[in-house]
Order: sequence, then structure tokens, then C-alpha cells
Amino acid sequence: MTHPDLAGKVVVVTGAGKGIGQAIAERFGSVGSSVVVNDVDAATAGAVAAGINDEGGTAIAAAADVSDGEQVQGVFDATIEAFGTVDVLVNNAGLVSPMLHFFDADEAWWRRIIDVNLTGHFLCGHVAARIMAKKGGGSIINMSSGGATRAHRSFTAYDASKGGIEALTRAMALDLGPYNVRVNALMPGSIDTAGMDTEARAYRGVNIPAGRIGDPYDMTGPALFLASEDSSYVTGDVLKVDGGMLAQQRSATVDIVHPDTFPAVEDL
Ligand SMILES: NC(=O)c1ccc[n+]([C@@H]2O[C@H](COP(=O)([O-])OP(=O)(O)OC[C@H]3O[C@@H](n4cnc5c(N)ncnc54)[C@H](O)[C@@H]3O)[C@@H](O)[C@H]2O)c1
Repeated sequence: MTHPDLAGKVVVVTGAGKGIGQAIAERFGSVGSSVVVNDVDAATAGAVAAGINDEGGTAIAAAADVSDGEQVQGVFDATIEAFGTVDVLVNNAGLVSPMLHFFDADEAWWRRIIDVNLTGHFLCGHVAARIMAKKGGGSIINMSSGGATRAHRSFTAYDASKGGIEALTRAMALDLGPYNVRVNALMPGSIDTAGMDTEARAYRGVNIPAGRIGDPYDMTGPALFLASEDSSYVTGDVLKVDGGMLAQQRSATVDIVHPDTFPAVEDL
């Protein structure tokens, strides 16, 4: 089993009813952590928690909207009641859509995305960090995006929220360092959470240096690393999990040299 130090640790994962959050919650369940599955959608949170328990793990569901301070407090109250403490928070809940061109955007759209993505990270981190500091430490993992440093078209609020999350990560790491609470972020590349067909996966994958789009499971090992003692001297960092996407100057389809022209393995 990887990361034996995570067995018995109490891990809260927000937005874990599907996608990356679900994969991370299930992976923590598989290494023996006690998992709190949060989502705004109570049905999916309940199903993921039930799945972890069915596999022999330990999980509860805690439905809440992470942009609402009272509901967030309720998630941590339920966590304390069930498991007594919080060791790890994975701030994963995030809204991508609706995507709107800047001229089509309005105040309500901007506020909702900033509220869920950025304020949600603050609210959950604010409650969790106090619990962690009182017990001598913990790990908070935020969820950034390539949009924090390279913009997507029609994603102004999302990209601004993710830039804010990277700044929040550094600022929290400084304030919480003396309390042994580490704060880092994961930066997923292009992760197939919607279940693309083979053609769509290939089309997206060709422009990623690793040659393929990511799966939600690709995010789980890095999450375990940032939660575990293996990263005990890592804080204030952003770990890219993107198959090399942000390392490239030009995508493969417009580059002068296309990967199709690389030497064949049998010719090496
Ligand atoms: N999939 C990618 O390629 C990708 C890339 C970069 C960053 N990310 C980030 O990773 C995180 C997860 O993305 P995903 O693709 O798995 O998304 P997803 O849409 O598949 O899942 C997000 C989950 O968050 C929940 N959620 C939404 N609003 C919520 C709220 N207010 N309170 C609690 N839960 C809420 C949703 O119900 C859903 O279950 C997000 O922060 C996203 O910005 C994803």
C-alpha cells in the first residue's frame, strides 16, 4: 500500500461527487483514510461515500455549498462528530461553466464563479486550518488550473479565480507555516472528467507532450504525495499535473517539428 502514513488520517474532499474530486476521495479511501465526501449535490456525495464504504473503506457524505460559510461549518462539524479531527483538506470544488465571452458576462456570473472557486477555498481552508493548527499540523491542497497563468478564451471569471487560488495558496502557506499546516496547490492539465469518446481524447491528446489527455486518477498520486509526510518540507507550491502541457511554447499541431516526425523507437 502506498503512503501508509495516510491510513487513519481524516481527509475532507470538496466537490467529490464526481470527476477529479471523486477519484481523489476514492484513492484516499483505498489507502485507509477516513474520507468526508462533500458536494453541493447530496445524491452524488452519498453515492461516492457509499462506494468507498462498499470497497472496505471509511467515508461519510457531507453535502454543502462551499460558497456558504454556515454550510461549510456544517461540513467540519459533521467531520469532527464522525472522526474527531481533520488532517487533510482537498479544496477541489470548482465551477467551470457557463463559459461566456467577456462582453456577454454579467455581475451575477462573475460573483458566482468567484464565490464558489475562490471564496469556497478560503472558507473551507479557514475552518480546517484552525482545527489542524490546534492539533499540531495538517495539509491543505487547493485546486488551481492552467488558467491561473495562461488564459482560456471566455473564462475570465474562472481564470481570475484560479489566479486568486494560487496567490491564496502562497499567502496561506506563510501564515500557517509556523503551525505546521502546509498549503499547496495541484494544477491539473486537461483531465477527462466528462467521459470523452476515443476520437475526442485523441484530438485533445495530440497537443499534450505526454501524448494523451489526463484521467481523473492521474490527479490522485500527486494528491496523496502532498497530503503525506513525503512532502513534509513542501509548502506554498503549485504542482503541475499536466503531461507537460504548460512546458511547451507551441502546441504540437502548430509546431515547426511535429511529434509524428520524431525518430521511431526501433531506429534508436
Ligand atoms: N478537468 C480538468 O481538466 C480540470 C483542469 C484544471 C482544473 N480543474 C479543477 O479541478 C476541480 C475539479 O474539476 P472537475 O473537472 O472534476 O469538475 P466536475 O465539474 O467534474 O466536478 C466538480 C464537482 O464540484 C461540485 N461542486 C460545484 N459547485 C460546488 C459547490 N458550490 N459546493 C460544493 N461542490 C460543488 C459539483 O457538483 C461536481 O460534483 C475544479 O476546481 C476545476 O476547476 C479541472
